[in-house]
Amino acid sequence: MDLGLAGQVVVITGGANGIGRATAQAFAREGARIVIADISDGADDDVPAAAQEIVEAGGEAIFVRPDVTSMSEVERLRDQALEAFGRLDVLVNNAAKLPTSTTAPFFWDEDPEEWDGLIDVALKGTLNCSKVIGDHLRQNGGGSIVNLSSDSARRGEQRETTYSAVKAAIIGFTQSAAIGLGPAQVRVNCVSPGRTITERHDRYRADIIAQGGEAAAAFEDREKRALKLYPLRKFGRPDDVANVIVGIASPVMSGHVTGQILSVNGGYHVG
Ligand SMILES: NC(=O)c1ccc[n+]([C@@H]2O[C@H](COP(=O)([O-])OP(=O)(O)OC[C@H]3O[C@@H](n4cnc5c(N)ncnc54)[C@H](O)[C@@H]3O)[C@@H](O)[C@H]2O)c1
Repeated sequence: MDLGLAGQVVVITGGANGIGRATAQAFAREGARIVIADISDGADDDVPAAAQEIVEAGGEAIFVRPDVTSMSEVERLRDQALEAFGRLDVLVNNAAKLPTSTTAPFFWDEDPEEWDGLIDVALKGTLNCSKVIGDHLRQNGGGSIVNLSSDSARRGEQRETTYSAVKAAIIGFTQSAAIGLGPAQVRVNCVSPGRTITERHDRYRADIIAQGGEAAAAFEDREKRALKLYPLRKFGRPDDVANVIVGIASPVMSGHVTGQILSVNGGYHVG
């Protein structure tokens, strides 16, 4: 099936790692031209690895390094993307700072110093990029915005209270922006992953297991208990989420879909 994405220009925030990186590759396989916007490059400061791997595979991609919490840096991102490709069609608001205090048993044990980072990157970053790039889409015939929430927002997560609140705000933003931007033919949807095992998780898991002892045993026990919450009895992988983001951005597959929240979660949250 031709998804109608060939030649379209797709901006993916946080596209240097994890779900964002898999999403960049999935759009590139459809012939889209890719703008990876990340504060990191996934490798080292000289090598924009995530964009380079697309170019080496025969695709078109550039790497831009904005901090999405800064409106002026997001404006620079828009300008650099337009300079490279002359148009913009799709924005994927994927960048986020994920909670680090995953061992905090509850909200009261969270370090308040972490709150600003969680709120600023995921929520303010989504607002900044949607305003600057969404305005361009609005004035140039339409396009698609895909926001990343999390099923921790749909179901609640004892260990990720503030993160869940931020991700719930993104659902509210998606629904409101879809109504506001609809008449300009800009579709706004939200993809909501359950636990998705990225290379970051693989590294974290390997470190804990390598420590052995009680920490490793407790981690493995939590993992086993968590798996029971997933009817498909597996966690997601970045490609599982990336393929759904591409499908919902596609004007062919999802041209009449806007304001929707779609979980990719092995059944963790149903309804
Ligand atoms: N992995 C999961 O289990 C999971 C589950 C639910 C939702 N999500 C959501 O999916 C998205 C991607 O998650 P992931 O696990 O791939 O994350 P990740 O940490 O692997 O990647 C996030 C990327 O965002 C970038 N980033 C951070 N701050 C930035 C900033 N200020 N400006 C620009 N870029 C910045 C990082 O450099 C990184 O490359 C996030 O929105 C996350 O909340 C992930």
